[in-house]
Amino acid sequence: MKVGILGSGIVGQSLAGGFAGLGYDVKVGTRDLSKLEKWLKELNSPKVSIGSFADAASFGEALVLATHGVNTKEAIEIAGKEKFRGKIVIDATNPLDFSKGVPPRFAAEQRNSLGEQIQRFIPEAKLVKAFNTVNALTMINAHLEEGRPDLFIAGDDDAAKKWVAELAQKWGWNSCVDIGGIAESFWLETFAMLWIVYGFKNNHWTHAFKLLKK
Ligand SMILES: NC(=O)c1ccc[n+]([C@@H]2O[C@H](COP(=O)([O-])OP(=O)(O)OC[C@H]3O[C@@H](n4cnc5c(N)ncnc54)[C@H](OP(=O)(O)O)[C@@H]3O)[C@@H](O)[C@H]2O)c1
Repeated sequence: MKVGILGSGIVGQSLAGGFAGLGYDVKVGTRDLSKLEKWLKELNSPKVSIGSFADAASFGEALVLATHGVNTKEAIEIAGKEKFRGKIVIDATNPLDFSKGVPPRFAAEQRNSLGEQIQRFIPEAKLVKAFNTVNALTMINAHLEEGRPDLFIAGDDDAAKKWVAELAQKWGWNSCVDIGGIAESFWLETFAMLWIVYGFKNNHWTHAFKLLKK
């Protein structure tokens, strides 16, 4: 299967390496190819290529959103909304406002989370909110010193969530916790804020969550 990733940052790069490691062909999209050229050269993988947002969205049979949260709809618009139709789309974004410095402020609200906004924007995409509550490197290698965390996901399409759960298992996650439809994205986005606030307070960036039950 071919995967298109929108996003030239650490998340796009990390997930590209993760997908390539599982044998997928990957194209990473950006508005500025110069941001990815050095990384691509160092990665030196025949499975990974780069292109525009539109190139990545056309290439991918499944897609990943790894763009600056509040600009994600803009990136989808540039790529072409029609290219998302019928495809599984992993949404790793968070609604963060850095305009007043760090920690960033939360820039969404209940019943209007970024995940819901994106699903409304591309209604025929099978959106799965996932991987937004850990750092980029943990996404694809979830073996932490204190154990393996659980991946919390939300989305309306069960088959899409099953595919994401299989990916998570291959990337070392303990288990995948499905919290419901895309309307529950809000909780995953606020969960990311907990992750971020803890990170800034403790200057620690490799933590992750686990659901413990009796
Ligand atoms: N960093 C982490 O460890 C982490 C962990 C979990 C979740 N997340 C979330 O994952 C997403 C990606 O994070 P990141 O740190 O890798 O990168 P980022 O700096 O948040 O975003 C970079 C990407 O956003 C695109 N972008 C920025 N402004 C844009 C605009 N006006 N129009 C269209 N595209 C625009 C950039 O496009 P160009 O390539 O064209 O510059 C680039 O591809 C974010 O939503 C973040 O909250 C991050």
